[in-house]
Amino acid sequence: MDHFKYSNGQLFAEDVAVADIISHVGTPTYIYSRGTLTTHYQKLAQAFAPLNPTICYSIKSCGNLAILRVLSELGSGFDVVSGGELFRALQAGGKPSGIVFAGVGKTDAEINEALDAKILLFNIESEAEFWNIDRICGDRKQSARAALRVNPDVASAGTHQKTLTGKKETKFGVDIDRAAAFYRQAAKARHLALSGLHLHIGSPIKTTQPYVDTINKALTLIDELAREGIVIDTLDIGGGYAAFYEGNEAPSAADYAAAIVPLLRGRKLKIILEPGRSISCNAGILVSRVTYTKQGGSKHFVIADAAMNDLIRPTLYESYHFIWPVNPGADAEPPNRGSELRIPGDQKVDVVGPVCESGDYLAKDRYLPVVKRGDLLAVFSAGAYGFAMSSQYNARPRAAEVMVNGKNWTVIRRRETYQDLVAAEL
Ligand code: LLP
Repeated sequence: MDHFKYSNGQLFAEDVAVADIISHVGTPTYIYSRGTLTTHYQKLAQAFAPLNPTICYSIKSCGNLAILRVLSELGSGFDVVSGGELFRALQAGGKPSGIVFAGVGKTDAEINEALDAKILLFNIESEAEFWNIDRICGDRKQSARAALRVNPDVASAGTHQKTLTGKKETKFGVDIDRAAAFYRQAAKARHLALSGLHLHIGSPIKTTQPYVDTINKALTLIDELAREGIVIDTLDIGGGYAAFYEGNEAPSAADYAAAIVPLLRGRKLKIILEPGRSISCNAGILVSRVTYTKQGGSKHFVIADAAMNDLIRPTLYESYHFIWPVNPGADAEPPNRGSELRIPGDQKVDVVGPVCESGDYLAKDRYLPVVKRGDLLAVFSAGAYGFAMSSQYNARPRAAEVMVNGKNWTVIRRRETYQDLVAAEL
């Protein structure tokens, strides 16, 4: 699952004691394990190898340049959703021929940037967008390739409403009933070739069946189009593969591949995958220091120096992140990372931040060993949509980011300063 392990009563990131890093860098800090990142990328690549896919890591999940460089060196391409993410991909040495660009609202400026870079594929989300890109290509006397994001109207149990994208009522893609007509129209375009089909049904998708249903619907459409002479040569099956948060909820890369590979094997299709969370989530923890503890009514509060501005997932999605002291002592090492982990002498607490909202919490009603001011807490499974969604709300400089590689570690993003808070203001 990851390379964060307790030994002799303290937490290690690979071979480095987390408390050691924090004594130099302070809190709050995101710590990433390069080994975990690499392992998760390789597991996915191996599982899907029979399809020889292009893997386009989804930058939005965790986009630090050092992380992108590691993945680029492993052969990953990138899924981007803005001009800024395209900029990051190129800065990290990403090859344009491995970049796909999704998103319902690509601006003309962003489209031009992608055409300048000569990316692999635009993932198209509407008729208006398709014809706009075709027009821009015409003005530039340049051709480009596109895939149509088809909204398959498939449900997925257990995916939060805010991150479910494969249902008709969401803003994403084009309804599958309208897709064939779209392809027929698009065949008349002079500059933008619509030869791909893109799917992304949500995040995380905790079972394999929604992928099977979605891909089967897409293949039916592809076959129908082939009979009309419209050839689809690329199928981008998106991301959404789960990561470990608690219990044994997540299928592995091999489980997803076992369900998906047989559907696509032997098809003359270039396959693209857009994993984000399944690569970055378990590769990162957020470390925070206890500022105070206090009682409120019947509740015990642990006030940490990390808040919703550092990790917004609990506030936004009621997400579960396992939290445990960094130095619990040998008697209180967590035997696993279950959701209701009990040890003798523990206490039920809310772990909250200092931000001025009651929604500012990292954990609610959670059993933890008794902690006191100054203790360090590790928030696990925080690599995906952690730092990436952080903000400066309440004028809080953003956390530092560190990458560990075996015995070595480096700061890959320094902690922001008060000056950074006002740097762009005129
Ligand atoms: N491809 C597309 C087109 C996407 O929109 C996304 C994620 C991905 C790939 C990668 O999905 P992943 O493999 O990471 O699940 N902030 C939310 C998740 C939002 C996902 C948005 N799109 C969270 O913290 O759970």
